[in-house]
Amino acid sequence: MWVDRHVVVGVSGGIACYKTCTLVRRLVEAGARVDVVLTEGAAEFVRPLTFEALSGRPVLTSLWTRGTALDHLRLAQQADLVVVAPATAHLIARLAQGMGDDLLTTLLLARSGPVLLAPAMNDAMYANPATRANLAFLAGRGFSQVGPEIGPLAEGPSERPGRMSEPETILAHAARLLRGRGPLSGLRVGVTAGPTREAIDPVRLVTNRSSGKMGYALAEAAWQRGAEVLLISGPVGLAVPCGVTLRHVDTTADLLQAVREARPELDLLIMAAAPADYRPAESSPVKRPRQGGALQLSLEATPDILLETASLRKPGSLTVGFALETGAAVARGRAKLERKGLDLIVVNDAMEPGAGFEVDTNRVILLDRKGGEVELPLASKRAIADGILDVIEAALGH
Ligand SMILES: Cc1cc2nc3c(=O)[nH]c(=O)nc-3n(C[C@H](O)[C@H](O)[C@H](O)COP(=O)(O)O)c2cc1C
Repeated sequence: MWVDRHVVVGVSGGIACYKTCTLVRRLVEAGARVDVVLTEGAAEFVRPLTFEALSGRPVLTSLWTRGTALDHLRLAQQADLVVVAPATAHLIARLAQGMGDDLLTTLLLARSGPVLLAPAMNDAMYANPATRANLAFLAGRGFSQVGPEIGPLAEGPSERPGRMSEPETILAHAARLLRGRGPLSGLRVGVTAGPTREAIDPVRLVTNRSSGKMGYALAEAAWQRGAEVLLISGPVGLAVPCGVTLRHVDTTADLLQAVREARPELDLLIMAAAPADYRPAESSPVKRPRQGGALQLSLEATPDILLETASLRKPGSLTVGFALETGAAVARGRAKLERKGLDLIVVNDAMEPGAGFEVDTNRVILLDRKGGEVELPLASKRAIADGILDVIEAALGH
């Protein structure tokens, strides 16, 4: 999405300037055309030459440089996105006051398109009512903000926000802003992911091979399309996607409870989790000792989450299910679509190479209630997530 997009990176004079070098590098690697604008203070921290080498383009630092007159207005109008990282307390104050006393503030005054601010400062400076008021005012005027976060500051450890977000986080927020408003913008989306597990005893479990990768990819893609995303996840070892709210669950009963609480608020529920369908009828409070011969385990069905929460469904919302089958996938998927009252079902076959559990790729067929079928050929789970959301967005439009 960054290829041939024009991004202005404004840099003001904070110690986090060194991280902006990585941000510029990532943007360039992603294919963006990047113009860097430094305040006088920023040039004290990182020399323009560094940004020039990283961006491959001249760096602008002053309104008064011959040969670049009016460049600030051209950049303000032409850039697809302006990111200010770090945004110092001083830059934020000047912006809120409508000042134009250097190239960056003049550019920002003339800008009507999207601007993302990444504030970074000492925690007390961020907590100062002047800074808070300035940022609240700028938010009201349509400026977007990422961070600051709680974490170590240059001057030492801190328990309060002040630290600039990492370049990857800024990049994710910038991508979301650049994408602009779409059918999922502002919608509340719930995604379930991963397996659940049921105790045989305090040591042993009944579970399955779900890795959670498909659900996490869907949560990430939905957030990037502007949704507010709640990810309800069973035990997996995956990084939480940027911007997504995580709720951990362990058993199918936990998952039911989490979906029950969330469902009345959700505009879209995507059930990508693989809950254990059966659990031991009796879980032993102590470890069952190993003994000769067979161990007989009696299993009972776990609750059906979609059926149990159907009455809590928000009117007008969409529900998307998954069916992982091992043969006759489409016929079984269509039966499940009807039985569970789904709007769409994503069918995949665990026996196909590169599809289903544990792998990073998938190949799926989407079925809707009108008999429609969309096939998404083998691709990364992240790309499949985008394909699924394209179909969901089309369904939301009807
Ligand atoms: C070593 C050092 C580190 C600084 N770090 C920050 C910072 O992280 N955030 C901030 O708002 N100001 C910081 N300042 C203060 C700013 O540099 C100062 O307010 C300056 O006027 C900012 O100008 P500018 O916003 O035009 O770049 C720092 C100053 C020094 C000397």
